[in-house]
Formats: sequence, C-alpha cells, structure tokens
Amino acid sequence: MSYTIALNFEDGVTRFIGCKEGETVLDAAYRQKVNLPMDCSDGVCGTCKGHCEQGEFDMGDEYLEEALSDEEAAEGQVLTCQMVPSSDCVIQVPVASSLCKTQVGKIEGTLAVVEQLSEDSIELAVDLDEGAELAFLPGQYIHIDVPGGEGHRSYSFSSKPGERRATFLIRNIPNGVMSGYLTRQAKVGDRLSLTGPLGSFYLREITRPVLMLAGGTGLAPFLSMLEQLAEKGSDQPMHLIYGVNKDDHLVKVDALDAFAEKLPTFTYSTVVVDEASQHPRKGYVTHHMDAEVLHDGDIDVYLCGPPPMVDAVLKHFDAEGIVPQSFHYEKFTPNQAPGEAS
Ligand SMILES: Cc1cc2nc3c(=O)[nH]c(=O)nc-3n(C[C@H](O)[C@H](O)[C@H](O)COP(=O)(O)OP(=O)(O)OC[C@H]3O[C@@H](n4cnc5c(N)ncnc54)[C@H](O)[C@@H]3O)c2cc1C
Ligand code: FES
Repeated sequence: MSYTIALNFEDGVTRFIGCKEGETVLDAAYRQKVNLPMDCSDGVCGTCKGHCEQGEFDMGDEYLEEALSDEEAAEGQVLTCQMVPSSDCVIQVPVASSLCKTQVGKIEGTLAVVEQLSEDSIELAVDLDEGAELAFLPGQYIHIDVPGGEGHRSYSFSSKPGERRATFLIRNIPNGVMSGYLTRQAKVGDRLSLTGPLGSFYLREITRPVLMLAGGTGLAPFLSMLEQLAEKGSDQPMHLIYGVNKDDHLVKVDALDAFAEKLPTFTYSTVVVDEASQHPRKGYVTHHMDAEVLHDGDIDVYLCGPPPMVDAVLKHFDAEGIVPQSFHYEKFTPNQAPGEAS
C-alpha cells in the first residue's frame, strides 16, 4: 500500500511523492530526492515542521513538546520526520522548493483539440507524452510555453488529475500572444511544453457547505474540482455562481448540468453583466449571493476570475461583514509585458 503525498512549497511549486505503509513523510521524500528541511530527524528540533491540510496520519508520541506543541498539533501542524500517513495527504512545506533540491516538473505534450467555444473562450486539450507524470490538485494551474519562444502563460486545469489528456479553458484576448497563437496558428499535432503544477488554489476536504464563484474562464478550475467531486461524491451543499459579460460567453453549461445530475448536492446559477441581455439573472455574481448559499458564513468560499472581479467580490464580502470559515481565491493576473521577466 502506498499513499500519494502532495508537498506544497512556499514558492507555489507542488511535488507529489509516494509514501509506503509505515514510512515517515521525511523518509519517503528523501527516497524520492526531495530533501525536506530536517535536523535531528528524531522529533526533537522542530526543523521539519509543516502543516497538513488534508489526510489521515499518525504522529506517534515520541516527539518533544518543544518540537511540536499540543496547540500546534491541534491546528494541523506536523513534524514530517514523525508523520506516518494512513491516507493520501496534502502538506504545506514552509520553504521554497529550491531549498529542498527539488523543482517544478517539465512535461511535453501534443495539442489534441483547439476549439473556439465562444467569441471569448477557447478550449485547449493536450495529450501528455506517454510516461509523463502529471499529478496535480484540482484547482491548480500550469505554465504553458507560447510556441515560438515568447515566454509562457499560466492556465488552470479544467480536467481532473490523472488523465493523459489535460484540458484548459482560455480567454481569447484580442492581440494577446497566446490568444493569437491559439486562434490563428495552433493545429492538432503541435508540440507544447508545460511546467508545473503550481498554486495554492485547490479544493480542500469538504466538511461544510461550499460556495464557488467563477468569472469568465475562471470557471476552469471549478470544472476540474467538480470532475473529481462527481467521482468521489459529497453530502455537503455546493453552489456555483458563474458570471460572464455577455450571453454568448456562457460556456460549458452542459457540463455543469451533468455535474448537477451526478452530484445531488450541487447546484449552480449563471449571471450576465450585459444590460441588453434577456438573461433571468443580470449584474455581477455579488448581486446573486442569497442567504441560502451563504449559510450565515459557515461556508468555504472558492473564487476565481480576472483581477477586477476577484477584487470586487473580496470588497463585497468585507463591506457586508461576511466572514466565511475559509476563503480561497485565484486571480488570473495577466503576464508581464514582453521583455520583462516572466
Ligand atoms: C495563476 C493563473 C492562472 C490562470 N489561469 C487561466 C485560465 O485558466 N484561463 C484563462 O483564460 N486565463 C488564465 N490566466 C491568465 C493567462 O495566464 C493569460 O494572462 C491570459 O490568457 C492572456 O494571455 P495572452 O497571451 O492571450 O495575452 P497577453 O499577450 O499576455 O496580453 C495581451 C494584452 O491583454 C492584457 N490582458 C491580459 N489578460 C487580460 C485579462 N484577463 N483581461 C484584460 N486584459 C488582459 C495584457 O495586459 C496585455 O496588454 C491565469 C493567470 C494566472 C496568474
Ligand atoms: S527533524 Fe527535528 S523534529 Fe523533525
């Protein structure tokens, strides 16, 4: 029996390692050439401290209170030199990946599908090379090099982890470099280089109602999360509010319907900004967060979209005094201008 441990480093890099039954995370990492911080490896110094976000494990009782206090343990802090997982786990490691002599993975693939779903969005599917390992947490993103050497762009996976075909939902930005490649040059068979996975915007264990807020192609990470949830199931209510600027920017509604059918606790609503729209819900996602989806703040909120939309939602929560149990967000911040480091 082996468990998959996601190690999330401070610089946003995630490395996945296998951990054998009875093995400590520190030993498993070392075996796979990831040198996690350590000093004593005996539960004495506290150097290997991290935070376990998900998963079951045993810490034993051999470590010292000075290395990990009861209070820290109750908050989910762990000593990786003592921690023996009994399920898959996600651990935050409070140092950069380079300090652990590991780095972000590089993967090659072949463009399998490029389809303009609307004036505003493009679907891209990449078949990863045979043997290329691509583990990620639903919600995370990857860098895709722009063919022709113009740097890279970041894209959230819309597919679930573990598939050889990775998919992405990409906004078509007039005069955008990647947008230009995808709409004018890209063809099936093109080779693409990807680097990742990255990011701390990923689905945590669901223990209370969830509110998902998506703006435009910010829907992508939610499709990935919902793919996984549809497989695993959940008893908790989950509601997605998906906002776009114009009617024909609404895409993947059939996929959302399919998720709602598979996941009885999942509901969603769509919102359109355009004043000329005949859509039943108009305005911004913040106009449609009814009390029944806010559960008096006893919710985990996931928010993703372009920076102005994310900022507006954060401001709204603040102004209304809504304090959710947890708040996770991803801003689709544009790349630096060509010439700047990217
Ligand atoms: C963590 C992360 C995840 C991301 N995931 C996704 C994703 O899943 N789907 C997706 O569509 N995008 C995503 N993005 C944004 C994406 O990386 C690119 O910035 C975007 O696709 C534009 O690339 P481009 O080469 O077409 O345009 P560029 O050549 O980079 O930009 C052209 C011009 O458009 C402006 N611009 C760029 N983006 C926007 C925007 N959103 N709104 C208005 N003006 C803009 C730029 O400032 C520039 O002036 C993500 C960004 C980050 C940081
Ligand atoms: S390395 Fe010293 S407590 Fe883990």
